[in-house]
Amino acid sequence: MRRFYTGRNMSRVQSVAEMTHIARRRLPDFAWEYLWGGAEEELTLNANREAFQQIGLQSHTLVANHPVPLECELFGKTSALPMAIGPSGFNGMLWPQADLALAKSAASKSIPFVLSTVSNASIEQVRAAAPELNFWFQLYALKDKDIQEDLLQRARNAGVDTLVVTSDALVVGNREWDRRNFVNPRQLTLRNQLNVLMHPGWLRKIMLPSGLPTMGNLNPYVPENERSALGAMKFIASQLDPLLDWQKLAEIRQQWSGKLILKGVLHPDDALKAMDLGLDGIVVTNHGGRQLDGASSSLQALQRIAPVVDGRLQILLDSGIRRGADIVKARALGADAVLLARATLFGVAAGGQAGATRVLDLLQEETARCLNLMGCQNLKDLSPNWLL
Ligand SMILES: Cc1cc2nc3c(=O)[nH]c(=O)nc-3n(C[C@H](O)[C@H](O)[C@H](O)COP(=O)(O)O)c2cc1C
Repeated sequence: MRRFYTGRNMSRVQSVAEMTHIARRRLPDFAWEYLWGGAEEELTLNANREAFQQIGLQSHTLVANHPVPLECELFGKTSALPMAIGPSGFNGMLWPQADLALAKSAASKSIPFVLSTVSNASIEQVRAAAPELNFWFQLYALKDKDIQEDLLQRARNAGVDTLVVTSDALVVGNREWDRRNFVNPRQLTLRNQLNVLMHPGWLRKIMLPSGLPTMGNLNPYVPENERSALGAMKFIASQLDPLLDWQKLAEIRQQWSGKLILKGVLHPDDALKAMDLGLDGIVVTNHGGRQLDGASSSLQALQRIAPVVDGRLQILLDSGIRRGADIVKARALGADAVLLARATLFGVAAGGQAGATRVLDLLQEETARCLNLMGCQNLKDLSPNWLL
């Protein structure tokens, strides 16, 4: 049976799986389920991992093992690695100021970081914490277009030039754990309250200093007497625009002169529509199995989409990346880079910035080692011929 390191020294953690194990021990059940869980039967959540496991790697022998360059061009800028930290909300539930820890971690590795609309730190706080960051912003389209434009202006002011519009969460997926863990949106069940007490480290770090964190980006728009974590949740639930469609995306294209990426593409026809609208890229994703249960794994969707796109748009892939070999497989099937979400979130939940950076280091090392073992001397040489 596999044994896991459970200590605090992040440099001793050997894999994302091991980091996951530490995060699980640190977090109370409700926060863990929020991080780990998928929708309904978790078919898509599991399919994401299975799709990577079903593909093998081709290897050639007697190829000199030079260090493999891993940098790549993403939307006009160089990223040191074919990865970026993707958007996730309520990170402050995992570690104090987790958004800032993730942003600094991305900056230290010279890769992009995507801040969620529903982050705990504000756009301005992230920029102040990481002045050199290749900083992208993720937009959930809002009903109030003045607020939406104000958010975009704040992003421009902070030097964000790449906007990611998420299109697969117009209706929130059926996350049963979320409803089970709360008596009402403001109160955990008694069982969960007791479970929180069994995690004194988490309680001391997160809850006791200032309670559940609020939503930094949305605070200015929430009535003053409602500026709590739960008030902000109520606000966002009432503000998400379920009527976002191609027409509204075209309007965002008009408003946003920087790079624009659509996150939520699983069908080749939608990739073609994104291209027709003049978008710069797409994220092939199923939101980590948290939205439509039964949706295609992202890797299988990539196999259908990449040949149709044929290099005319940049393609990012997320959902299920846990190893460097996953990144190699995604690249071989036509993705330019991957977005990390749970992988770096496990890191930040286990050990803050040091944990997130350790995850990035591990994925970098694994990707380079995997290419060396395959006898592939350049990331750019990867193609489906390298897969079994
Ligand atoms: C805890 C959590 C919060 C998330 N919040 C957001 C969000 O605010 N905006 C968004 O576009 N995607 C969000 N996602 C989806 C991720 O960006 C990403 O698509 C997905 O998690 C990838 O799957 P993986 O985490 O299994 O790699 C969230 C995912 C998780 C796990």
